Amino acid sequence: MKVLITGATGLVGKEIVRVLHDKNVTVHYLTRSTRKIHSDSNYKGFYWNPSKGELDPKSLEGVQTIINLAGATIANRWTKSFKRKIMESRVESLKTLKKALDGSDISGIQSIISASAIGIYPNSLSKFYDESEKEVDDSFLGSVVQQWENAANEFKDLGLKVAKIRIGVVLSKSGGALPKMARPVQLYLGAAFGSGEQWQSWIHIEDLAQLFVYIVENGLKGTFNAVAPNPVTQSKMTKILGRVLNKPIWLPNIPKFAMQGLLGEMSYLLFASQRVSSKRIEKKGFVFQYPNLEPALMNLYGQEKKESYIVE
Ligand SMILES: NC(=O)c1ccc[n+]([C@@H]2O[C@H](COP(=O)([O-])OP(=O)(O)OC[C@H]3O[C@@H](n4cnc5c(N)ncnc54)[C@H](OP(=O)(O)O)[C@@H]3O)[C@@H](O)[C@H]2O)c1
Repeated sequence: MKVLITGATGLVGKEIVRVLHDKNVTVHYLTRSTRKIHSDSNYKGFYWNPSKGELDPKSLEGVQTIINLAGATIANRWTKSFKRKIMESRVESLKTLKKALDGSDISGIQSIISASAIGIYPNSLSKFYDESEKEVDDSFLGSVVQQWENAANEFKDLGLKVAKIRIGVVLSKSGGALPKMARPVQLYLGAAFGSGEQWQSWIHIEDLAQLFVYIVENGLKGTFNAVAPNPVTQSKMTKILGRVLNKPIWLPNIPKFAMQGLLGEMSYLLFASQRVSSKRIEKKGFVFQYPNLEPALMNLYGQEKKESYIVE
């Protein structure tokens, strides 16, 4: 089997590649950076430039499934021009792929699995969202995810199965939100934001990669939330992180205006609340290795905790 991945060089992509390689699946990947192109027998890189609609057609040869992860990070200051980049990088990546497929023999390609995000769900402290929710968050992020999913849906016109994976907060030591949350805690400066009641629907990076591959292997289509079965509030997340890192949380919560001053509009990410259900993928037979936060964090930081016991 051969899978083509966009954004394979990122946090989530690297973990998916690892899982696919464990299963002897060959990976082709598209990258904008020629220095990231490698050519091993099971991992072959190809150049593309989504902002110009360019893609090396050889990347499609022998491929059965496409996994689309490409997109500029949302963790940079949301200036007007960077917001455009966040949106365009996602929509243009999918358009470039579609244009390339339109013009080639794609008889072997059966499906596309595209990353999406739980930021599509309206900010709420009380609702519990599943994939049938029709309302979209009234924010920049809500509109990015909606247009991203619309662009993914267009592959149905080519006869492909389309799956959209609404990813929650990915927990990994190598990047994403967790190291940014853990750093202040490690410095005894951890604190929750605002009321701390906002829901954080998280997922361990290993579960996320397994979930993508499960969707590939089982030919699933439609929308799936990629969150662990037990979301927590931000206060609880901070408290558990403190416990796992063996550092007390003693500071009061940080008010919204302080973070708005520091981060501008991007501070929205810290205060948005989405409690999201994992039931749909579980009903399809997927089993989470890390359904609860504390064991998930222990798995990621456990070694550090043992070391800190020795030092302190
Ligand atoms: N991590 C999370 O918590 C989380 C949560 C929800 C959704 N997601 C979504 O899941 C996807 C993968 O996340 P990740 O954490 O692995 O992201 P990441 O580490 O930032 O990697 C994204 C990849 O996208 C490519 N990329 C970056 N800027 C781009 C641009 N302007 N145009 C086209 N491609 C670009 C890069 O590949 P090259 O440099 O090789 O081209 C990069 O390796 C992203 O789309 C993200 O929005 C992530």
